[in-house]
Parts: sequence; C-alpha cells; structure tokens
Amino acid sequence: MKRPQESARTDVVTADLTGKVALVTGATSGIGKDTARQLVARGAEVILSGRDQTRAAAVRDEIGGRSADRIHLLIADLSSMARVSRMAQEAAGRFGRLDVLVNNAGIDTGQQRTTADGFEMTFAVNYLAPFLLTTLLLDLLRRSAPSRVLTIASGGHRGGTIDFDDLQSQRHFGGQRAYNTSKLALVLFTYELARRLRDEHVSANCVDPGFVRGTNIGQDIAAGYRLVGALMWPFMTSPSKAAEDVVWAATDPALTDVSGVYLKRRKHIQSSADSRDPQLAARLWDATEQLLATTR
Ligand SMILES: NC(=O)c1ccc[n+]([C@@H]2O[C@H](COP(=O)([O-])OP(=O)(O)OC[C@H]3O[C@@H](n4cnc5c(N)ncnc54)[C@H](OP(=O)(O)O)[C@@H]3O)[C@@H](O)[C@H]2O)c1
Repeated sequence: MKRPQESARTDVVTADLTGKVALVTGATSGIGKDTARQLVARGAEVILSGRDQTRAAAVRDEIGGRSADRIHLLIADLSSMARVSRMAQEAAGRFGRLDVLVNNAGIDTGQQRTTADGFEMTFAVNYLAPFLLTTLLLDLLRRSAPSRVLTIASGGHRGGTIDFDDLQSQRHFGGQRAYNTSKLALVLFTYELARRLRDEHVSANCVDPGFVRGTNIGQDIAAGYRLVGALMWPFMTSPSKAAEDVVWAATDPALTDVSGVYLKRRKHIQSSADSRDPQLAARLWDATEQLLATTR
C-alpha cells in the first residue's frame, strides 16, 4: 500500500466524472447530500441512497437541477440487513458498473435500541450495513476497476474498543462508546478490505471529515454534547467542504493505487493503534460474517 502524495488543497475538485457511477449512502442530508451534489456536478451518474422515498426525491430535485436524470434513488433502511442485501442486488442489477462507493450513512443517537434483526442499532447502521453492502458489491467494484470504496470515519474511533464478548456494546451501553466502537470497527474493516483486495485495483480508504457543522447527526444526544457542539461551531467545517474532501478522495489520480489509509483534510494521518492491528481486523471480519449469517 502506498502513502498518498499530499495534493495542494484547491477549493474545487475539477475531475470530470462523466460515465462514472457513484453510490452514496445517507445522501439525504449533511455530508452525503453535498457529496452527491458535487459528484453530480462533476458529471457522474449518482445512486442516491436514503431510507425515505419522499426525502430522497426532494434531495434529487434540490441538487440535480438540469442533471436530475443522472440521479438514481435507492431506498433502504440500513438498519435492516435484508434491505441492505436487496439494495446491493438492485444496484448490481440496474447499473452495469460502480466506480465509487461512499459508505457515509451514520447515526449517533446516544440511545440503546435494537433493530428488527436483533442488533444494537448504532452498530448495525454504522458498521454492519457498510460491511454487508460493500462485500455484496465487490464483484461489481472489481468489474469496474480501478474503483474506490470510501468509508466515512470519525476521530471517535480512537475512543472505541473491540470487546468480542460485548461487540455491540449491549452489556455496557454508552452512546458515545457505541458510536466510537462502530467507527473503530469501520476503520478495521476498511484496512482489512484493502489487504484482501491487494492487487485488484479496488481501493478501500477512510475519510475523516473532522467536526462538521449543520448536519443532522447527534440531534438526539445529551444536551451536554450539544453544548460542546455549539462551542465548537466556529472551528467546524461546512458539509460542503467536508464533501470536497470526499470527492477529492474519490477522484484524485494520485490516490489510484493508494489503499488502506486514513485521510483527513487531504492528508494521510495515522489512525489509532487498535485500528492498525491486522489480527484484530481479521478476527473482527470473521465475527462479523458470523453475525451476518444469523440474518440469512
Ligand atoms: N458531522 C460530523 O461532525 C461528523 C464527524 C465525523 C464523522 N461523521 C460521519 O459522517 C457521516 C455523515 O454524517 P452527517 O454529519 O452528514 O450526518 P447526517 O446529516 O445525520 O447524515 C446521516 C445520513 O445517514 C442517513 N441514515 C441514518 N440512519 C439511516 C438508516 N437507518 N438507513 C439509511 N440511512 C440512514 C440519514 O438519513 P435521514 O436523512 O433519513 O436521517 C442521513 O442521510 C456519518 O457516518 C458520521 O458518523 C460526521
């Protein structure tokens, strides 16, 4: 795996994506919506994934303009692994290729909830869904190589812990713990995926957007955290700037052969020691496959 060259930051990503197909999950608000908007503006066919048809159609109208015919909706609640599987099948059936997959959808609710499959909600939406979606789309990504998988990570992964006796933070639930652990699992998954795809010209990288203001995430968490958010506001980046970094990671030619890295503000930075542990990543991959097998 190569280290990316640091590109000089320009405000606008200029790549022409005509003929390319990109799928963005969680594209109905925040970073995902702006990522979809910018990919459409660059000429890509964009598969806009959301859980609500009306909201997704409204976003298509808002961001599409005269290019709305290049935005295709795939509706799925990612807390259901059956819906994730169906969405992957539909994407593979409807589109002959997939150049970029952006695993962006995520939640941080602070609440312990259980999905219809019996998984802890944050773990399911933030980690199991992108794991399943990506692995089900691998053939399509391989057929479209060189292609890229980008997973939206968070600095919170540094506070996560993988405890195989309580992988879903169910026994000792804490909202922040659940979020951080789901993000650590995602980083481990991304690096393991990069190792498994070595030499296949399908890259897998994390993009950490930093603190982003004005998105919908964290609306339900405790007032104390919201206060921290309000104090941090002037230091936060906008969804549109965060999306520019995602689109850069999706398009910069210098990243074509770069896989298994953690990108923040267009630089390769080191993620936590746990996230870089290949044995932990391989064990987590196996444990995840076993969990997902219970839903089939
Ligand atoms: N904002 C930050 O400071 C920050 C920092 C680090 C990392 N991130 C990461 O960035 C990503 C995007 O977050 P954001 O800040 O842009 O938040 P956001 O505005 O809340 O966007 C989250 C997206 O995920 C979708 N989503 C949530 N649950 C879903 C489900 N069960 N099924 C399908 N879609 C679902 C939401 O759909 P609805 O519109 O239907 O709710 C929305 O489109 C997340 O992975 C987050 O962890 C954000």
